[in-house]
Parts: sequence; structure tokens; C-alpha cells
Amino acid sequence: MTSAPPVETPQEDTAFVQFWNDVLAPKFIRFKHVLVDGLTLHSEEIFPSLPVRPGDAVLDVGCGFGDTAIKLAGMAGPTGRVVGIDCCDAFLDYAREDAASKGVGNIEFVRGDAEVALPTNEFDFVFARFGTMFFTNPVAAMRNMRTALKPGGRMVHIVWRNREDNPWLSEAKEVVSRFLPPPGEDALTCGPGPFSMANQEMVTAMMRSAGYEEIEFRRVDAEVVVGKDVQDAISFQLALGPAGEVFREAGEEAERKRDEIEAAMAASLKGRKRGPDGILMDSSSWVISAINPS
Ligand SMILES: C[S@@+](CC[C@H](N)C(=O)[O-])C[C@H]1O[C@@H](n2cnc3c(N)ncnc32)[C@H](O)[C@@H]1O
Repeated sequence: MTSAPPVETPQEDTAFVQFWNDVLAPKFIRFKHVLVDGLTLHSEEIFPSLPVRPGDAVLDVGCGFGDTAIKLAGMAGPTGRVVGIDCCDAFLDYAREDAASKGVGNIEFVRGDAEVALPTNEFDFVFARFGTMFFTNPVAAMRNMRTALKPGGRMVHIVWRNREDNPWLSEAKEVVSRFLPPPGEDALTCGPGPFSMANQEMVTAMMRSAGYEEIEFRRVDAEVVVGKDVQDAISFQLALGPAGEVFREAGEEAERKRDEIEAAMAASLKGRKRGPDGILMDSSSWVISAINPS
């Protein structure tokens, strides 16, 4: 396998990258069963139609635990190669181990910040599942993703649609917000947040500014598992996502009110539809596709 060109890394991690490593990674690992298994539904539906051919060079940005990168490596085949890039060491450790245990040789996982730099003019296809909504400077980062493509190459990213169509994230926040104040101006965050790319017009304008053409949106709706049972769903929602942010930022007040918050969340989860893997809630994403014209 040809190895990936070195990715320029900054001297020091940004506050967002530190936050992903220090605060979010342990929680993502704890709830990997919800995040990876559930969210896969949004990529499974479009994977067969992705324009990846044997021999292609593919970049997966914000690759997390590496499952999509490993699938893309299967599509690119032994003559192709995949680079998964993420800013979080713990996810990359998982991804490398998973690829090794599956005997996937045409893949490399690299630590990097897509907002700072990506390799240029290297890839036939660039992919990101639920990674681009967290960029603090999305136009610059998406421009980096575009210039990572060869001319005519395609980029596909998957982002959440609006709050109303994503009750699996928004309803828990509504419940928690009945008890706790909104996060303050200086709240520690992982970036703009899950709904920052929900607006089709705004994202189209951002992608045009980043130099893309032929920008197309496709809506994908899926029921996701929010937890194995009510307690698991509550723990997940208080740890991550918009409700998790309100809870974390409220600190001691949140802990003092934990029992009543959990009781209200349990009431809102009561009677929900259940699948074989746990409690199901609706979710909705955009699959956005565009090309690098030059
Ligand atoms: C919601 S997770 C999605 C992970 C994976 N793509 C998936 O669908 O399971 C967002 C990922 O983007 C990564 N990330 C966030 N900002 C990044 C940046 N500036 N550069 C590289 N990776 C970033 C995070 O570490 C995390 O793995």
C-alpha cells in the first residue's frame, strides 16, 4: 500500500480538539453501541451508491471508530487505499485495532485536524459521516476537504437535519431544560453542534464558498436505537448531545437535580417503540454530495 502523505499538524491542539480527546472520547466509547450501531443506518442506505471504484484513493474525515473507513477500503479493493483522519487518539486506536483484526491492509488511520490541513490533490473520493457539523470554521475545513480531492473528485458528507425531525437528540434537551439553565457563553463545546448544517440554503452557500459544484441533498430518515433500555437511554442522553451539554455545564446543580431529571426523562421515554436492540426514536439526516471542479 502507498502510504499517506504526512498531514501537517499544528504545534498545539485547539480547545475543540482537546475537548474531543479529554471530554467526549470516553463518553463516545461508553456509548459506542448507540453511536456507531445506530448511526450506521444513515450511511448503510447510501453506501452501495457511493462512487467508489476499485483502485480509488479515499479519505474519511472525522472517521471516529473507523467503521466507514473499513467499508470504504473494501470498496476501493486491494489496488485502492483509504486514509481515515480524526483528531481523537482514542478513536484512532480502536480503528487501527479493528482494521488489523479484520485483516484490512489498504487502510491507514492518521491523527489530524481537518480544519488545519489535509493532504492536497490526493483523493478520488472524500467522505465524512457526522463529522463536518463540528467544524468551527466550516468553510475553511470543507475547502481543505475539496482540495484533498483530485479535480473532478466527489465529496459526500452526512449531517443531521433540523431539531424537529431529530427527536432522539432534541426531546431530551427539552426535558433537561425544564430543570437547568442553558449553557453559558463560555461553555466548553466540541464546536457548533449537531444541527449546524441542517439548513440547506446555508450549507449550499458555505459549500459554494468552499469551491464545490453540483451540490445535491438527499434526505434519509431512520429510526435509531437510543439505548438498550430506559436507563441506558437516559445515561446516553445525559452524557452526550444537546441534553448532555446542558447537564454537563450545569455542574453541581445538575447532580443535585439528577433524580428528578431522570424521572422526567423516564416519563418521556415511556411507551416508546422498541426494536430488538432497544428503544427506537426518529432521526433524519442530509446526505450531501458535491464535486471539486478544479
Ligand atoms: C460525531 S463523530 C462521528 C464519527 C464517525 N464519522 C461516525 O460516524 O461514527 C465526529 C468525529 O469527528 C472528529 N472530529 C471533530 N472535529 C474534527 C477535526 N477538526 N478534525 C478531524 N476530526 C474531527 C471527532 O473526533 C469524531 O470522531
